[in-house]
Amino acid sequence: MKKTFAFLLAVLVLGNGAAFAASAENGKTAYTKHGCWQCHGFLGQGSLVTSGGTVLSRTALPYDVFKNFVRNSNRTMPPYREAILSDADLADIYAYMQSIPKSPDANSIQLLKP
Ligand code: HEC
Repeated sequence: MKKTFAFLLAVLVLGNGAAFAASAENGKTAYTKHGCWQCHGFLGQGSLVTSGGTVLSRTALPYDVFKNFVRNSNRTMPPYREAILSDADLADIYAYMQSIPKSPDANSIQLLKP
């Protein structure tokens, strides 16, 4: 029984890997340190000039696709291999991007009302 429990725990912790351990707070640091903000903006909001309008905040891309792009990009964005950006930092960056709150609805902003 004890062994089964330990095994299940190991599967939970190790099997889920990055997603389980990801921290948005560390992700913010890694995002800054690795310069993603230079093209994607500090909140992943993107820019027509530097990221071709690509928005990263709350990206709909599943983590695997996100990771695969960052590791192997061969377009405008330089690829970030594991030697310079660890899997753990990349998972945290993804968590940070998912944690960015949505902009408020323009109709809810008093100053914008006629
Ligand atoms: C030199 C500018 C630049 C930097 C620095 C940069 N990117 Fe990008 N990124 C781009 C551009 C431009 C695109 C649009 C695709 C293309 O043309 O390469 C893009 C696309 C992406 C995409 C694909 C998103 C989608 O919805 O298709 C992901 C994911 C991404 N970047 C993550 C990152 C992360 C994480 C970092 C930091 C580790 C980073 N980028 C740093 C320029 C940059």
